[in-house]
Amino acid sequence: MKIVSIVGARPQFIKAAAVSRELRKQHKEILVHTGQHYDYAMSGVFFDGLEIPPPDVNLGVGSGSHGAQTGAMLRSVEEVMIQEKPDWVLIYGDTNSTLAGALAASKLHIPVVHVEAGLRSFNRRMPEEVNRVIADHLSALLLCPSSTAIDNLATEGVTEGVHLVGDVMLDVLNWAKERSAPKAPETLSRMGLNRDGYLMATVHRSENTDDPKRLVNILDAFNSLDEPVLFPAHPRFRKVLTEGRHQLKPHIKLIEPLGYFDMVTLTSAARMVLTDSGGLQKEAYWLGVPCVTLRDETEWVETVESGWNRLAGLEHDSIVNTIRTFTPPATRPALYGDGCVSAKCVALLK
Ligand code: UD1
Repeated sequence: MKIVSIVGARPQFIKAAAVSRELRKQHKEILVHTGQHYDYAMSGVFFDGLEIPPPDVNLGVGSGSHGAQTGAMLRSVEEVMIQEKPDWVLIYGDTNSTLAGALAASKLHIPVVHVEAGLRSFNRRMPEEVNRVIADHLSALLLCPSSTAIDNLATEGVTEGVHLVGDVMLDVLNWAKERSAPKAPETLSRMGLNRDGYLMATVHRSENTDDPKRLVNILDAFNSLDEPVLFPAHPRFRKVLTEGRHQLKPHIKLIEPLGYFDMVTLTSAARMVLTDSGGLQKEAYWLGVPCVTLRDETEWVETVESGWNRLAGLEHDSIVNTIRTFTPPATRPALYGDGCVSAKCVALLK
């Protein structure tokens, strides 16, 4: 079969690293990069490091408002689909690239397979929540990472073509962990860090970076800490930091976004993760690193139920107290599949 896969943003490159390899064993894949992320540190580094096949098409859409960005992608991905006439369109996660792929394909009557279907934050102010609800309702094959995702879909009346497969990100993490482990001491010493002697932080969600009050709460909380914080900064975060003339204390080490292998190494050696990213909440869990989530809700509720992830919200005191006092339990049940999920996804494409 011929499958058009749509990627555009960092987490989708990581997922494609697992799925494309498996897909190409049996099918012809046309990998379409929308160009949503375009800096080398946000895109190229993943293709090079994770051995993802180079995109067959790069639409070069770039940044913009939600309407402008999604509209430009919609127009261009439609052209590719008309030309390629695929049997399936494969979309990942919840970005604007996901939404554009789902809309274009469904209007051309091409069946859509959604990897990471059924997740919900129940917060419609998040652009990702809007994207995933629409993508799910337009998909013929919905590949879910958890039974919670299946239940979410059932509540919305979506029960056809729904499968519990697990999370393809675990496939990639297991592969990368093995490869990056020998270089861990060198990576830590390059960063001037000691194992368990620092916190790994990322903040990129628009609801945090673009709301001055939330942003200041996060920055003040980080400034109040008394241990090193390694902070690979998304370009959006760096921009608001510069524009707002915010000052960070010297224990916060602001660096460029990291490639996947360095991210895995430096996350697994951290004492704790502080993040508003969905992917990093799971990666912290799989790596056995406690996670403080800088949000009011999460789609990855199982990590919270297990006791390894705490929702600290966005108030200064709550963030600082959680970081200082949080100790995870002794056990950590397996979550989101067995690390062989991409093969299951591909097997379901009929
Ligand atoms: C997008 C996804 C989000 C995902 C995240 C992963 C949507 C709505 N959001 O958010 O779900 O978690 O990717 O990182 O699709 N920029 C650059 N260089 C780049 C890319 C972006 O400078 O290569 C800057 C631009 O100022 C841009 C801003 O970052 O306006 C935001 O980028 P955008 O793609 O709109 O959304 P993300 O915040 O990255």
